[in-house]
Amino acid sequence: MRKFIEVISQEMEQAFEAAGYDPSLGRVTVSSRPDLCEYQCNGAMAGAKKYHKAPFMIAEDVAAKLQDSEVFSSVEVVRPGFINLKIAEAFLTVYLMQMKDAERFGMPAQEAPSRIILDYGGPNVAKPLHVGHLRSAVIGESIKRICRYHGEEVIGDIHLGDWGLQMGLVITELQDRQPDLPYFDPAYRGDYPEEAPFTVSELEEIYPYASKKSKEDADYYARAMEATHRLQEGDRGLRALWDQIIQVSVTDMKRNYAKLDVTFDLWNGESTVNDIIPGMAARMKEEGYAHESNGALVVDVSEETDSKEMPPCIILKSDGAALYTTTDLATMLDREENYHPDRMIYITDKRQELHFSQVFRCARKTGLIRPETRLDHIGFGTMNGKDGKPFKTREGGVMRLQTLIEDIDREMLGKISTNEEIPPEEARETAEKVALAALKYGDLSNQASKDYIFDIERFTSFEGDTGPYILYTIVRIKSILSRYSREGGKEIGSLAIGTARSSAEKNLMFDLAGFSAMMDNAYEELAPHKVCAYIYQMSNDFNSFYHETRILTEEDTEKKEGWIALLSLTERVLLTCIDVLGFSAPERM
Ligand code: ARG
Repeated sequence: MRKFIEVISQEMEQAFEAAGYDPSLGRVTVSSRPDLCEYQCNGAMAGAKKYHKAPFMIAEDVAAKLQDSEVFSSVEVVRPGFINLKIAEAFLTVYLMQMKDAERFGMPAQEAPSRIILDYGGPNVAKPLHVGHLRSAVIGESIKRICRYHGEEVIGDIHLGDWGLQMGLVITELQDRQPDLPYFDPAYRGDYPEEAPFTVSELEEIYPYASKKSKEDADYYARAMEATHRLQEGDRGLRALWDQIIQVSVTDMKRNYAKLDVTFDLWNGESTVNDIIPGMAARMKEEGYAHESNGALVVDVSEETDSKEMPPCIILKSDGAALYTTTDLATMLDREENYHPDRMIYITDKRQELHFSQVFRCARKTGLIRPETRLDHIGFGTMNGKDGKPFKTREGGVMRLQTLIEDIDREMLGKISTNEEIPPEEARETAEKVALAALKYGDLSNQASKDYIFDIERFTSFEGDTGPYILYTIVRIKSILSRYSREGGKEIGSLAIGTARSSAEKNLMFDLAGFSAMMDNAYEELAPHKVCAYIYQMSNDFNSFYHETRILTEEDTEKKEGWIALLSLTERVLLTCIDVLGFSAPERM
């Protein structure tokens, strides 16, 4: 199906052509003056110069050709030459009827899907997930679903931080605490224990402890570096210990991501590419891209047009160690070889912008990826507390994701439990669903690059631009539809949408008709906030319509059935939208 805006533009373009003007002048846009009209066309203004004619006259010529239009119910020319338009109700209905029965509401099928690797989540092994990783997971999951809905093939990769000094630190501290473990005995030849000698909580306590200590104790730091080096060289015992750290940590991560309804296709990490780093570095050197600078191996990535300084990309440090940059480059090479992606999209904190500029330039310059491969970095802003500073616990520590989720679940449960009709078990499940919507919508409704204030009270409110408000609207529709069916109504899918009888009803219908244009745009701009804005508008328009219409008690069957059909389409569109945002609706709340 063609987009609604395209269909009405085409009608206008044909009128321009029929009146002897360039059809491309006939582009229609949504009205900037909704009090006067629904859509408008400013083409006559643009044509005045070309045709040496007053815009008003051009507009009149065009309007004359639209007298019998089935698309427009009113075509009004206003000085100096604007064409104000209203859509014929019957035409709008026909469009929605097609949309209602079409696959994906009439979004065109993707002929040539692009293969996208989406790099998001990015948690670090042995460190608790904190709120910074929340944004990457929430935004990434939604972008993945938007791209998939659009028809693209998306592979989501978590890109674990599982290599480098952080691992050496944990290993060193474990050795200090439990020196007799066989992992540390170079002479040990037997199998290592199956059970890890630590729990996830211990790991999470060990990392910050070790990190702090390494900054105060030079010898400790040197030992951590040494352990990192031995691990990367493949020391048998340290590898076995490292495997267990990963296992314990990943099990915990999976539980947390499951709570967020976030899933990954690949659980690769920085370590995945360890073995291809030497070859990559050697090739960069041989081909003349990399050179030595103060003992390190670097690739220059600055360009003449740079207004800001662009430092060279360090491939290997002077001691031969790989860096964050190195693993990202090698990962690109690995992805190119194994998946041939058309595009790679990275979702991280925007403070990593410089890093990705360097990495992208270096990958292009050294030919790690094909020239046509698209690379995007979506840098997101900080989640702040009410004080405008990065979100912290009450004690001032880094907020753990788990704690945050528990807080919002509790808040929501308090609200849901006030509805006495809902039994406790269902209330708990519902609270979790609504809390997730509150959390995700609170994040996604902001343009990703902006900082935002995490405000539990506002996010969990059933009113305003919030997740719970959207769910409340959906639940309201669900309850009307199920009552209609319970009271012996017809099969809902077979009902025909009627013609709009009020402006509230017509506004809701326009919202629905705009679905594919909105989804396309959200995909083009990788912008979940567009989906949020769309469903917020739709929910407002639905609620205005609902408040002025007695649907179930309507005696005129045709009218009532038309409304039920309209509600059902509204419900389906809203459900699709919240699914691409990454949450779902309860049956009641
Ligand atoms: N682990 C990193 C961090 O916590 C994020 C990884 C982002 N992805 C990437 N390919 N660099 O900051």
